[in-house]
Amino acid sequence: MVIYQIQAAIEAIEKNAALYQETSFDRRVEAIDALEFNIVDRIEGLLQTVNPPEELIALKQAAERVKRQLEEIDATLFQRLRADIRRGSCAGAAFKDLIEAYVGPDASNRQPQDEPGYDSLDLFINGLLLSRAVPNETKAREPEMVYYQQTPARIIFELVEKAQLTEEDVFYDVGSGLGQVPILVNLLSGAPAKGIEFEPAYGDYARLSAVDLNLSRVTFIQADARTADYSDGTVFFMYTPFEGRMLQEVLVKLRGEAHRRRIRLFTYGPCTPQVARQSWLKRIDQNGDHLYKLGTFQSG
Ligand SMILES: C[S@@+](CC[C@H](N)C(=O)[O-])C[C@H]1O[C@@H](n2cnc3c(N)ncnc32)[C@H](O)[C@@H]1O
Repeated sequence: MVIYQIQAAIEAIEKNAALYQETSFDRRVEAIDALEFNIVDRIEGLLQTVNPPEELIALKQAAERVKRQLEEIDATLFQRLRADIRRGSCAGAAFKDLIEAYVGPDASNRQPQDEPGYDSLDLFINGLLLSRAVPNETKAREPEMVYYQQTPARIIFELVEKAQLTEEDVFYDVGSGLGQVPILVNLLSGAPAKGIEFEPAYGDYARLSAVDLNLSRVTFIQADARTADYSDGTVFFMYTPFEGRMLQEVLVKLRGEAHRRRIRLFTYGPCTPQVARQSWLKRIDQNGDHLYKLGTFQSG
């Protein structure tokens, strides 16, 4: 009985023609998840029991084969899209349309959540921009430095929507990790975008991604945010790269920049309340103490 159920579940996925259409990214995500977590995991559980049915091995292989076929569609899709980006034919409105075609409408208006939850937009962006293995950290972090965690892609889309960056702007991601924030900001807005990252292995990863995509206006600088040069920055983003005194030190540095020109600062995560207490910054969103909504500030 169980064997028939599993076989039927694999066949239902394998014969679902919609899954083989390139644009069915969301549906493929669900099918790949079902194959991995409902089907293969279930088979592996059954294989641990006494005298498991022989057919299970063949079913496991079939499930893995179908999963590989679906994953290959995504891999080919991302390769082609990366080639389009390299050629410059997939930026700005074209890039937004592409996201809509593959991940559905309202990518920039997804509901904010109570925590940094991720969705199919993140899976799509990760497939496109973060396909290489994440490198190990090479430098010891100081206690106030926060470990790498990526900003949910919907927040980056929201930032670009709200920031309305122009040719005069220079965007900075302070603590840029693997680099997808400056890359996406540049792809969506065309504005020059820079990332400041303490960990050299992350900076190298990000730099390679930008070079591979031929994005000459995206730069990654390996530096401690406390000593980095922000002299051309107009729009800054922080997904809580550090806390406490270290955050205060960098905010004092940004205040110095704000004496020379008006700057805007977007925040995400636990750094927002500390940023909100800075008297030189005016808060222009209505998100109160909500840590996982985009904080929007500008200097007076
Ligand atoms: C929460 S992650 C955010 C990563 C990135 N902004 C993103 O959304 O993908 C914080 C990042 O800040 C970096 N970081 C921590 N302290 C730093 C410092 N003093 N200077 C520069 N980067 C720092 C960490 O290595 C980590 O990559």
